[in-house]
Amino acid sequence: MLATHRPAITLRDKFAYGLVKFFRFFADTFFRKRYGNRAIVLETVAAVPGIVGAGLLHLQCLRKIKDDAGWIRKLLDEADNERMHLMTFVQIAKPNWFERFVVFTAQMIFVVLYLAMYAISSRTAHRFVGYLEEEAVVSYNHYLAEIDSGRIDNCKAPTIAINYWKLSPDATLRDVVIAVRQDEVDHRDVNHFLADKLYKGEKIIQDI
Ligand SMILES: [Fe+2]
Ligand SMILES: [Fe+2]
Repeated sequence: MLATHRPAITLRDKFAYGLVKFFRFFADTFFRKRYGNRAIVLETVAAVPGIVGAGLLHLQCLRKIKDDAGWIRKLLDEADNERMHLMTFVQIAKPNWFERFVVFTAQMIFVVLYLAMYAISSRTAHRFVGYLEEEAVVSYNHYLAEIDSGRIDNCKAPTIAINYWKLSPDATLRDVVIAVRQDEVDHRDVNHFLADKLYKGEKIIQDI
């Protein structure tokens, strides 16, 4: 389903949701309607949780001699998919020096914060990403509305996007945004699923 919100029930859910809303406020204030530039900066951040989660799960599997049940690959794929979003949007909007500085600083801060969050509570970390992806879906809905209203030029899709999502050769930015939004829907559902699994007391890694 496209736009859904998983109600924040527990204290950890509320913390994760509050943190996402806090970040959203800054993103809205800073980027306003510059959705291309917004996508570039946010995708650099979105590609962090998958690689951190996969790394920590990998180490946990080694340490406890357990099976990852395919989740390491799944999280790595998520990180790679987010990186392809970035590779696509830099073909559409060009980041200025200040946005590059924000990307650089945000990565240093966010990697440390997310690593700590995952180490302390992987459930909260996956819930946080689930909510982050809910907001990503909302942002790409706004992006689509701007394209449909003609305020943003529905330019030709970059070749990298046509190849990656196997779009038709005459695909446009609109088709790309729809494909990216579907990826965010998938990330949202996977991360909420993992948070729910941990909430029920089930483990992500399993006995061999
Ligand atoms: Fe993304
Ligand atoms: Fe995502």
